[in-house]
Amino acid sequence: MKLAVFGSPIRHSLSPDIHTAFAEQFGLAVQYTRIEATAEQFETRFAAFEKAGGIGANITLPLKEYAFTYADSRSSIASQTGAVNTLVKQGQDWFGTNTDGVGLVADLQSLETDLAGARVLLLGAGGAARGVIPALTNAGVQYLHVANRTEQRANQLVQHARKHATSSTIEFAFSRIEDIPNMGFQVIVNATSSGLQGQRLPIPSAVFANTPFCYDMVYGAQPTLFLQAALASHCQVADGLGMLVGQAAESFRLWTGKTPETGSVLTRLRNQHK
Ligand code: ATR
Repeated sequence: MKLAVFGSPIRHSLSPDIHTAFAEQFGLAVQYTRIEATAEQFETRFAAFEKAGGIGANITLPLKEYAFTYADSRSSIASQTGAVNTLVKQGQDWFGTNTDGVGLVADLQSLETDLAGARVLLLGAGGAARGVIPALTNAGVQYLHVANRTEQRANQLVQHARKHATSSTIEFAFSRIEDIPNMGFQVIVNATSSGLQGQRLPIPSAVFANTPFCYDMVYGAQPTLFLQAALASHCQVADGLGMLVGQAAESFRLWTGKTPETGSVLTRLRNQHK
């Protein structure tokens, strides 16, 4: 089975390691490669991959919106998020979906964070934040507050989320990050790219003091400044490596029909990247 991940830069992608480990669980012969492609290069390189027998692909930065338009058909989650991270060959067509939110929710659940009825604070209003809102609402979140550096983008994202919400009981709100009200959030999810730039978010400290669980979608050998601030307030924390494995598991299930076990793969990655 020929699979690949497309993006730029792609050299450091962990996806081949993860999918090779999943395939081993089922004794499946899977060849999963990294393919460097910008938006200009995508169509040609993807066509070559398909010609060589490719039947499934992951799509990462900066191609997720491009892959959305490239897909012949799309899941409702892809339509809500405007982004595709997984392409599945169906007959002659490519079906596009987005497994990022499922990966986040699966990881939060494996960390025993109960989302049903929860008050969640989502930091950021870019593609990463937009990509996980449908899964958070489907998981039964009761109140979702979107806070962003640029308030107008948070407002736009909330308007969009309201329009597409599958639950009629969920409440949405938005603000600038420095104006986040102390609402007794159970979970804070950082979907900004501030961790990649090593920049601090101006979150009021009272918000941390009342939040038991803080999650950063960014992962790395060191905790981000956001996670360091959460730790200083005695919150439980996790980085986004589990989300990466979780979204991969959902993609793998769509390609193969098999649901891999993720815990051992995550442990192995953590040990490798310490
Ligand atoms: P992505 O696809 O990773 O979400 P994006 O669409 O560029 O990328 O969005 C990046 C997000 O991180 C935005 O919410 C951005 O805030 P703005 O909308 O105000 O630009 C946020 N972000 C990036 N760097 C940040 C920083 N240093 N402090 C606060 N927010 C930051």
